[in-house]
Amino acid sequence: MHGDPQAVLQGFFAATTTARLRRRLVRETQRVDLGSLRRTEPVSRHWGYERGTPVDRYYIESFLAHNRGSIAGRVLEVKNSAYTDRFGHGVVRSDILDVDPGNPHATIVADLRDAAEVADDSFDCFVLTQTLQLIYEVQLAVAEAHRILAPGGVLLVSVPTMSRIVREPGVADYWRFTEDSCARLLADAFGAEQVVVRAYGNVLACVAFIEGLAAEELKPAELDEHDPDYPLVILARAVKAERR
Ligand SMILES: C[S@@+](CC[C@H](N)C(=O)[O-])C[C@H]1O[C@@H](n2cnc3c(N)ncnc32)[C@H](O)[C@@H]1O
Repeated sequence: MHGDPQAVLQGFFAATTTARLRRRLVRETQRVDLGSLRRTEPVSRHWGYERGTPVDRYYIESFLAHNRGSIAGRVLEVKNSAYTDRFGHGVVRSDILDVDPGNPHATIVADLRDAAEVADDSFDCFVLTQTLQLIYEVQLAVAEAHRILAPGGVLLVSVPTMSRIVREPGVADYWRFTEDSCARLLADAFGAEQVVVRAYGNVLACVAFIEGLAAEELKPAELDEHDPDYPLVILARAVKAERR
C-alpha cells in the first residue's frame, strides 16, 4: 500500500525542493537590510552610554517617574542615590546599600542575601534596580528586601530580560528574568496581591539595546510600544502588607 518506492522518493524530493524554494522566496521578497548592523562587534559595549540614554534606562526612568510618589520617607537604593535624588520627594533619609566595601557612597555595607545589620521595617521605599541578576540566591535577596521594608513600604524593582554580560572584578552576572519569574519571585515574598509586574520594550528596543544604541536614536512611538513576547526589561512594584 506504500506504492512505488521510486515515486515516493521523487515525491519526497519534490516536496523538500518546494519547501526550500518557498523559504527562499520569503527571504527574497521580504529582504532584511542589515545595513550597518552587519557586524559581530556591537556598536557600543557600554550599553550606549557614550551615545545617550541606554534603552533599558529609558524604561526604568519612566517607571520611577511614574512611581515618584512612593520614593519618599526613608529610602534605600543600591550602589548610589541617583534615582532617590532624581525622583524622590519628601525623602527624610537616603541610604545606599552595597556588598562592596570599597563603595565610598555606601552608608550600609551588607550582602542583600543576609543583611542582618539592617533592622526589620527600616525603609519606606527600596529602589532596587538592575541588581538581582547579580545575586545567585535571588530568593534570599527578595525576602530580605521584604523584611527591611516597613509595613506599607514599597519595593521598586527592575530586572533585565536581556542585556550584555556584566564583566567587572568581583561581580558575576547570573540571571535574566521573565515577567512570570519576576512575578513569582516577588509574590513568594510579598504575596501575589501585593505585586504588580510589567514587561517593557519590543523587538526593536531589544536590538537597539543589545547593540548599544541609545534611546535618543529611537522614536518615542518605537520605544513606547510594549510587546510582551519581546520585552527588554521587567519593572515591578511590590508593597509590604500592613500588619493586621
Ligand atoms: C549594576 S549596580 C545596580 C545598581 C544601580 N543603582 C543601578 O541602577 O545601576 C549593582 C550593584 O549591586 C551590588 N551588589 C551585587 N551583589 C550584591 C549583594 N549580594 N548585596 C548587595 N549589593 C550587591 C554591586 O556591588 C553593585 O554596586
